[in-house]
Amino acid sequence: MNTTNEIQKQEEYITKVKQINENKKCKYIILTMGCQLNENDSEKLCGIVEKMGYEKTEKQEEADLALFNTCCVRENAEEKLFGKIGELKNIKQSKELIIAIGGCMMQEKHMVDKIKQSYPFVDIIFGTHTLHKFPQDLYEALKTQKKISDIIDIDGEIYEGIPIKRNDNIKASVAIMNGCNNFCSYCIVPYVRGRERSREPRAIIEEIRELASKGYKEICLLGQNVNSYLRVEREKNIAFEEYEGINSFATLLEAINKIEGIERIRFISPHPKDFTDDVIEAIAKCDKVCKLIHLPLQSGNTKVLKEMNRKYTKEQYLSLVEKMKEKIPNLTLSTDIIVGFPGETEEEFEDTLDVVRKVKYEQVYMFIYSRRVGTKGDKMPNQVPEEVKHKRFEKLKQLVESQIAENNQKYIGTYQKVLVEGKSKNNSNMLTGRTDSNKVVIFEGKEELIGTMQDLKIISEHMWYLKGM
Ligand code: 5AD
Ligand code: SF4
Repeated sequence: MNTTNEIQKQEEYITKVKQINENKKCKYIILTMGCQLNENDSEKLCGIVEKMGYEKTEKQEEADLALFNTCCVRENAEEKLFGKIGELKNIKQSKELIIAIGGCMMQEKHMVDKIKQSYPFVDIIFGTHTLHKFPQDLYEALKTQKKISDIIDIDGEIYEGIPIKRNDNIKASVAIMNGCNNFCSYCIVPYVRGRERSREPRAIIEEIRELASKGYKEICLLGQNVNSYLRVEREKNIAFEEYEGINSFATLLEAINKIEGIERIRFISPHPKDFTDDVIEAIAKCDKVCKLIHLPLQSGNTKVLKEMNRKYTKEQYLSLVEKMKEKIPNLTLSTDIIVGFPGETEEEFEDTLDVVRKVKYEQVYMFIYSRRVGTKGDKMPNQVPEEVKHKRFEKLKQLVESQIAENNQKYIGTYQKVLVEGKSKNNSNMLTGRTDSNKVVIFEGKEELIGTMQDLKIISEHMWYLKGM
């Protein structure tokens, strides 16, 4: 399909919706669940609807359009969504309101069936592969008053040129790829985001250059498996245009590192199995690439890792960490861990604690295993009882918190480069920023410092933030 023509067609629908809403001062509300990729998709949805003349509101009773961008990685998002749709039903009875639900959850057939059955007043349902078509879907819903269901199951096209309204003016997320080919057995993502596809190097570089020209200082590269950027294309001989020498994740980092104005580069999430030497070298030599690497562990036990289809052992993970620490000065690490995967014994869980003790992560994102319909994990017979999962979670949490408290001590008395992000939410006399290792630092300073890099002395630690001066 010619994606440029499609985007032009959608521009025409944007104009048509704008005409329908003319002089109406329409407002929209958006609720985003899940990961940063979803946040980035929501920025595109905001870009689209603002171009149609809608103005953002935080009050649902004011909204003419309510947008939900859903996530299905874990179970808890579902309850939240149903609660919110229920609240909107009453509002919809008293005024004209379009309710549109999109995102990962809408790629699951059982969820779409449930919405159609239990919440028939929902106007538009769209999926991850049809976000770019939202102008057309909204136009048809407004024009025909019919219920629109626009979900397709494909290998994911990449559309360039979708309008975007960013949440921040210092830090920006840039998706570099979409989809995942790994099929970790707990994970629903490959089923709802389709196969791995990388964006063209030129499109990424042009987007980041534009961000730099607008004053953005920090870029976070996003993808389900960022460090396999362009790998599928290379392996399967799918054509892409090499630009500025970019033909891999390592060369992409090097090219972005040269963009003037950008001061920090982060990326999430890489997969340990794709952490090749060229990527490690690129991180070490690119001064703008932050030395905090997110390296999802998931489990520290080799048998569980095999059942999870992670393609590395405990020992391989630990030796990768060793190699990275050796090659990248001042490296810090963060990770994702799942407790209570089917069949995980107490002893196997101890291996996870062992890795946490050894690696001494800067930050650990902890998750209780959640059964996802359609995944291999869901069909495994030996599911761990809820109370056991919760006990393990608490044990891991205690260990992580004690390590973070200990780790915080090492900052005291040091000087840290802090990118100043804005006023502190809790105290408007204070500014807030982050270190290279993504630690929040609060300090007293003038507003003019927002958006600049400051060398701050760390004077105290408070678990989730540091104080500087
Ligand atoms: N249950 C619990 N956690 C999960 N994650 C992904 N799928 C599940 C699941 N079914 C976690 C993984 C992943 C992070 C984004 O979410 O740790 O890295
Ligand atoms: Fe899910 Fe594994 Fe792909 Fe990450 S790498 S999105 S955990 S399947």
